[in-house]
Amino acid sequence: MSEVILRIENLTKSFKDRKVVDSLNLEVTEGEVFGFLGPNGAGKSTTIRLILSLIKPDSGDVKIFGKWVTKHRNGSLQNVGALIEEAAFYKNLTARRNLQILVNLGGGTNRRIDEVLEIVRLIDRADDKVKTYSHGMKQRLGIAQALLHNPKLMILDEPTSGLDPHGIKEVRELIKSMSDDGITVFLSSHLLHEVEQSCSTMAIINEGRLVVSGKVKDLLKQTDLFTTEIQAQPIEEAVSVIRQLDFVKIVVVSEESIKVSVSKDDLPNLTTVLVEKGIKVSAIVPRSSLEDFFLSLTVRDDG
Ligand SMILES: Nc1ncnc2c1ncn2[C@@H]1O[C@H](COP(=O)(O)OP(=O)(O)OP(=O)(O)O)[C@@H](O)[C@H]1O
Ligand SMILES: [Mg+2]
Repeated sequence: MSEVILRIENLTKSFKDRKVVDSLNLEVTEGEVFGFLGPNGAGKSTTIRLILSLIKPDSGDVKIFGKWVTKHRNGSLQNVGALIEEAAFYKNLTARRNLQILVNLGGGTNRRIDEVLEIVRLIDRADDKVKTYSHGMKQRLGIAQALLHNPKLMILDEPTSGLDPHGIKEVRELIKSMSDDGITVFLSSHLLHEVEQSCSTMAIINEGRLVVSGKVKDLLKQTDLFTTEIQAQPIEEAVSVIRQLDFVKIVVVSEESIKVSVSKDDLPNLTTVLVEKGIKVSAIVPRSSLEDFFLSLTVRDDG
């Protein structure tokens, strides 16, 4: 029976008067690769800084391996590794020397250095200066640093950001190998397909609030996440009619169709209104893509 190793409870954080994390509740179970998905500015990095106790919440708390981070910062974070933003290195020193410095500061053992270099596939370049490394290699060295003390939970804040497809693939494989080694991974991303590929469970947040969470494969077939494509003429009139309705949200407009987010219960009302306004509705196509649903979150209400 797997246990919950990270619990976010009613977490709230404001900057000035703006709530950036708003009554957030989440559970991460041991062994998962957990995707923390949200559009830019959703509050992912802020949540991660709260988890790592780098900033203080206004209310709520985070429990890691049974300890609340606000009360037992060091104890709770003992088994946690993290890569947030860009990792810091001594660029004129080699990768191996960078890792040795961390070992000397008390993180891990000398024997572990070769192991982590092996895991992130930098062993062949370990004695080159970090300033000669590509962005992808630096990200992997950052993960090597985070792995030094044998963490049981790895927190990665958008680790593939700025990487080319090859670098993205390497990080994805690294996440898989960490998971195969029994490390629970908490991965933030603003890309649904990345989460679909790497994660077993995910939570979507928007404007600091939890929108939906669950097993990735269940969410992909969940029916109330449908968006609906409406083919209608004239399209401009259909758009302006739909804009007046508060139970429908326009996701995307193309030349002959409009993708909307609308509940199944409200769909008949929508077609009735369109027909009453003299608009010719030629097709209504339900689309069960989580991508459309996620896209709908990034659409601003002001259209
Ligand atoms: N120190 C701060 N002071 C004021 N506002 C902040 C601070 N840190 C973050 N914010 C604001 O909080 C909101 C959420 O930011 P956050 O970095 O958590 O989002 P994110 O989901 O990580 O976005 P991205 O995908 O762009 O990395 C943003 O509107 C941001 O401007
Ligand atoms: Mg961020």
